[in-house]
Amino acid sequence: MADVASIRPAILIEGLTKRYGSGSAAVDALKGVDMTVWPGEVVGLIGPSGSGKTTLLKCLGAVIEPTAGRFTLGGEMIFDGGWKTGDLRALRRDRIGFVFQAPYLIPFLDATDNVALLPMLAGVPNPQARATALEMLGALDVQHRAQARIAELSGGEQQRVAIARALANKPPIILADEPTAPLDSERALTVVKILNRLAQEFRTAIIVVTHDEKIIPTFKRIYHIRDGKTYEEAGEGRAI
Ligand SMILES: Nc1ncnc2c1ncn2[C@@H]1O[C@H](COP(=O)(O)OP(=O)(O)O)[C@@H](O)[C@H]1O
Ligand SMILES: [Mg+2]
Repeated sequence: MADVASIRPAILIEGLTKRYGSGSAAVDALKGVDMTVWPGEVVGLIGPSGSGKTTLLKCLGAVIEPTAGRFTLGGEMIFDGGWKTGDLRALRRDRIGFVFQAPYLIPFLDATDNVALLPMLAGVPNPQARATALEMLGALDVQHRAQARIAELSGGEQQRVAIARALANKPPIILADEPTAPLDSERALTVVKILNRLAQEFRTAIIVVTHDEKIIPTFKRIYHIRDGKTYEEAGEGRAI
């Protein structure tokens, strides 16, 4: 029998709009976005500065409220002209992992505690949360830095810890906003390789916002966003 979960889009967006402010100060950041991402897919989202990339990720992550349109996550209606789910905090915590350009790690904690914090907040007992954190650091090849404080890590190591943190609750969706911007070419490609491996291993659906020319050829599918609207295109899907 077919696995129903795997034939449902992980993310399905239809006609999503976002207006900031009102009256003469209104900014229409999203003007009708359509997008589909399947489980296990890494999709690129590319567009010039101010085109609405971060706004779209924030809407999907329930950080801000869209104005109109709808989207489902894992087949469940999350927004349809208004929120359709009661607990947006639980949605953000359990179902979505965020990776930002700046890692936003907590400097005075070590790598393990930075990753273990989210599962702990979700109610996982501390020893188990730390075991999960070590497993995720291992998946990102930074387990040897598990006890190092963030300030002692290189930029590339910090970004891998940040990705481990985004994965700690094993979310079905990862939203990455320019995750390779601070990295050199080799490290940027390593991060993309890791994201692709995680997508395959855990069936995670991943959206990577980027204008990093080094990584664009690796996507199999790309959405361009321009002036608040999306256009789909086949990517090169170059092996990495
Ligand atoms: N909080 C906000 N209030 C008003 N306008 C905003 C806000 N955040 C973003 N914008 C505007 O929305 C548009 C899209 O911004 P953003 O989503 O950050 O673009 P990108 O991430 O592609 O650079 C821009 O015109 C930006 O100035
Ligand atoms: Mg942005």
